[in-house]
Amino acid sequence: MSGHAPRTTHHALIIGGTAAYGLDLAPYRPVDDPIALDTPYGPAPTITFLQPDSKRPPVAFCSRHGAGQLARSAAFVNQRAIVWAAKMLGVNAIYSWNGVGAIASHLEVGDLIVPDDFLDFTRTRTTTFDNTDLIAAQEGSAFRPAFHPAARAAILTAASSLRNSETRRVYEAATYVCTEGPRLETASEIALYHRAGADIVGMTLSPEVFLAQEVGIAYASLCYVTNYATGRAGERPPKRDFGVNVARVCLPLLLSASLH
Ligand code: HPA
Repeated sequence: MSGHAPRTTHHALIIGGTAAYGLDLAPYRPVDDPIALDTPYGPAPTITFLQPDSKRPPVAFCSRHGAGQLARSAAFVNQRAIVWAAKMLGVNAIYSWNGVGAIASHLEVGDLIVPDDFLDFTRTRTTTFDNTDLIAAQEGSAFRPAFHPAARAAILTAASSLRNSETRRVYEAATYVCTEGPRLETASEIALYHRAGADIVGMTLSPEVFLAQEVGIAYASLCYVTNYATGRAGERPPKRDFGVNVARVCLPLLLSASLH
């Protein structure tokens, strides 16, 4: 571990997705030194502590795909190291943002969604820590939702009170399908996921959400529609929004959610 150890137990970790690596963090008031935690699963991405409101505790933040530049696409993220680092920090909630392709035809580029269910179509990712007791431990909670209801509610409350919320549609529920990547899906794959009930597609939420659940950290995601999924644009002209604007919308919203 380098830098100073965190001074207090932190309440929340925000995991930045699309464009987080391009964001200037200065407006969100970093405090303390960033830390690089070593975990049993390898090094975690650098964690920065942000304190936009001096009367509230700092919030931990890391960029899933690298700092300063896009260093790792979704298929190469070390999710176990990130979630273990959250556990080392003692956080009780993780809020993440995730760029997604729109499958449901009512969704537009720029829409915000707080998903409430999940289809996992990844193939090669390790979706658990080395926890041989897991099946027994989960027996009593077989019907626990993947996304934590209170953490979802915190994001929705923050979204409804943001100044720019009038110009952005926020959807309170959706099914997210996670694909393996790094390649984009074929039109037939997206058609299959659509028939299976998926509204949005991304590559980053699995296994993060399951790993958090395994170590008892509440997890919720803010999804930002960056594009139409393959074959789902219909008559609409192609549109993509992967710029730093995505991070500038998502980070303040999640900071506000985490300080509830
Ligand atoms: N497919 C998979 N992952 C994504 C997409 C997509 O269309 N857009 C953003 N992440």
